[in-house]
Amino acid sequence: MYAIISDIHSNLEALSAVFERIDAEDVDDVICLGDVVGYGPDPEPCIDLIRERCRFTIRGNHDDAILGDALDFNPIAREVIEGTRQLLRPGLFSSATKRERWSFLKGLEPARREGRVLFVHGSPRDPVKEYVMKTDVVFAPEKLQDIFSRIDGICFVGHTHQPGVFVEKREGGRMVYEHRAPHELGREASYAFDEAKVLVNVGSVGQPRDQDSRSCFVLVEEDDEGRPTRVRFERVPYDYRPTMDKIEAIDWINNLCATRLEIGR
Ligand SMILES: [Fe+2]
Repeated sequence: MYAIISDIHSNLEALSAVFERIDAEDVDDVICLGDVVGYGPDPEPCIDLIRERCRFTIRGNHDDAILGDALDFNPIAREVIEGTRQLLRPGLFSSATKRERWSFLKGLEPARREGRVLFVHGSPRDPVKEYVMKTDVVFAPEKLQDIFSRIDGICFVGHTHQPGVFVEKREGGRMVYEHRAPHELGREASYAFDEAKVLVNVGSVGQPRDQDSRSCFVLVEEDDEGRPTRVRFERVPYDYRPTMDKIEAIDWINNLCATRLEIGR
């Protein structure tokens, strides 16, 4: 069994709580789908924990913006990116640790394929930036058809901070798409993989946006050959008040980044 986490967004309290839960399960590996930084107050310890604990980490749009520019971000997100960049970017006399964190961000891969499983932050056709929304099921089925044509079996994503499963089904002569949020997946909040192509959004550790303040991640069960058989959504409550206090004390993070943690939006 392995765990997949995503969208930590420099929230150390949430990340620590999630690792505590992971350590209580029979988990061999942890995979991170990106956005380690952005929005939150603790980029450095979050990078250190992710580097230490994850088998591999995918590049998110916030990780990417730290290295380049944040021109396509909203002003609140951009301000945090710029503050985080100031904090992380090594200078001439910076420590080895600081340089290692920076090269970790530089080295993040945009996508990884392992057998029939694809890991990206956003979507298979634009791995760093594209959002796959549950409203696409109704309003953009042709977008989903193009996205699913690039999936062999299972694709795990993050990015929207909204956990759920998209399933492709053939109905009559055409493909139709369904979305199910974790609460629509039974008491276990789990989905058993079959032949149908699936895109799974693992939700967000550090800034959930589905009106639930608890951190979200998934556990993936495997068969003897290491093929995924089932995905289970996990929620972990954590104390977000210290995170909110830290955000409020930093002048380059807008206080809205604190209040949204409490309401899960
Ligand atoms: Fe994110």
